Amino acid sequence: MFYFIANWKMNAPALPAWVKLVAEARYGTDHEIVLCPAFTQLAAANMVLAGTEIALGAQDCHAMPEGAYTGDVSADMLKRSGCSYVIVGHSERREQHQETSAQVKAKAQAAVASGLQPIICVGESLAQREAGQALAVVSQQLAESLPEGSDDYLIAYEPIWAIGSGLTATPSDIASMHSHIKKSLDKPLPVLYGGSVKPNNAAEILALDGVDGVLVGSASLKGDDFAAIIGAC
Ligand code: PGA
Repeated sequence: MFYFIANWKMNAPALPAWVKLVAEARYGTDHEIVLCPAFTQLAAANMVLAGTEIALGAQDCHAMPEGAYTGDVSADMLKRSGCSYVIVGHSERREQHQETSAQVKAKAQAAVASGLQPIICVGESLAQREAGQALAVVSQQLAESLPEGSDDYLIAYEPIWAIGSGLTATPSDIASMHSHIKKSLDKPLPVLYGGSVKPNNAAEILALDGVDGVLVGSASLKGDDFAAIIGAC
């Protein structure tokens, strides 16, 4: 069983055609497929996904349950909108919104408290990798970002330089980082890889030791590409 997470980011492909192709690709498997559209598409996605085995997730949540936080959405609101998962700590939010690991941890804890499974993203920059700091950077992110008192979450290792760039980490870099992450966790939790996963490299990535699934951005926007990634394992 593998996890396949579609992170649509700030894109909104048509739902019915995508869901039909992806539901067909999942048919007869026990893979966990999660669609993470923008907040505005959650309600429609929840309706279109009804009766399929595809789960719904969001791309972020606020750490507080409610209050004066203009433009934000709480974990509890996501739960009530049909979500089972939420991505937290994506590098685009860490970089573009200056989110710290402490904030990521607070969001992950809010998600757990609302009955959502957080997908907690970690990953190093190219400069950090070139300086030989990749393992240390990810260790620190894990130490500071993971929720306490819960083991109901997933980790996504996404090297920042591989996201949206067409570059992927080498198979041996992915395998050694996943083994590093698994060794630093108390419990055997799913660890996913993300960063330019495509139909033509998914099989090789999913075959690596310690890779429990993939978090897919641009190649998840087209139903046939995402279906091909599911079919690759
Ligand atoms: P990408 O994005 O597949 O387009 O590289 C992955 C992600 O950001 O989750």
